Amino acid sequence: MGIKKVESIWVDGSLVPWDDATDHMLAHTLHYGVGCFEGIRAYQRADGRTAIFRLREHIDRLFDSAIICTMDIPFTREQVMAACAEVVRTNKMSFCYLRPLVYLGSGALGLGSFEPPVRTMVAAFEWGAYLGDDGLKQGIKCLISGFTRANSNAVMNKGKICGQYVTSVLAKRLALKSGYDEALMLDPQGYVAEGTGENIFVVKNGIVRTPPAGAAILAGITRDTSIQLLRERGVEVREEMIARDELYVADEVFLTGTAAEVTPVREIDQRRVGRGEFPITRGLQESFFAVVKGGDTKHDHWLHFV
Ligand SMILES: Cc1ncc(COP(=O)(O)O)c(C=O)c1O
Repeated sequence: MGIKKVESIWVDGSLVPWDDATDHMLAHTLHYGVGCFEGIRAYQRADGRTAIFRLREHIDRLFDSAIICTMDIPFTREQVMAACAEVVRTNKMSFCYLRPLVYLGSGALGLGSFEPPVRTMVAAFEWGAYLGDDGLKQGIKCLISGFTRANSNAVMNKGKICGQYVTSVLAKRLALKSGYDEALMLDPQGYVAEGTGENIFVVKNGIVRTPPAGAAILAGITRDTSIQLLRERGVEVREEMIARDELYVADEVFLTGTAAEVTPVREIDQRRVGRGEFPITRGLQESFFAVVKGGDTKHDHWLHFV
């Protein structure tokens, strides 16, 4: 699915026409992957207004990722939040996906050089259901990947860091080539970590479990949203390590992420998940979509109206 061009992209403090938002071939991040990004969605709610979902938390995570990358973002959090709202408004988008990126530009290629400028950009474009509309409704097919989420001294799992996505891309490509929709990744000890770009939840006997924030996972904002919404629905949620074969005998499995939203998993490693019904996942989807694009106003503190 290609990206549909819009009018402008925010780059280093000002709006630049889409086609002019380019950089030099010797940009440091292009070579070594030291950079960080976010994925954020803006939705049109039932009352017609557009709101960016949990913008503050995404920008806080972007700044955390920059700290991990030893990069000083030359803007305040408020300025980057304002830039996100500005690209939605300027490009007249009622809903969209937002991609802030902080990276090292050109100037030097030494690994330890602090010379390359820290550059900041925010783009907005349309992005439909990441795992397909059908996936959202019927569930997706996953395989457990041979690619591992590395231990936290090899990979800074708490950051959304450009170069760290190599294993995610390789795992996802192999899954797609093999006829699956998504790859699930284990940690170095063999415990379930996450999807290539999603967190994972497992349901058994009415109890929902997800790996704890300290595991080899990104602390997803949709993960946090889902835990809160499930608890509000009276569902018990535990943050615990999950063994591989617990996936095979689960009643339900679902993935959460800004791109994937709340997507049920109907098959893992050629085994049907549970009885092929997802009552708890469906309930969570109902709550989630009511918050982001329905009439739920109890969670408006999560919305940044543009
Ligand atoms: C590796 C990984 N895990 C989990 C997630 C889900 O995080 P969030 O819900 O904040 O989008 C993402 C997407 O950002 C991701 O890339």
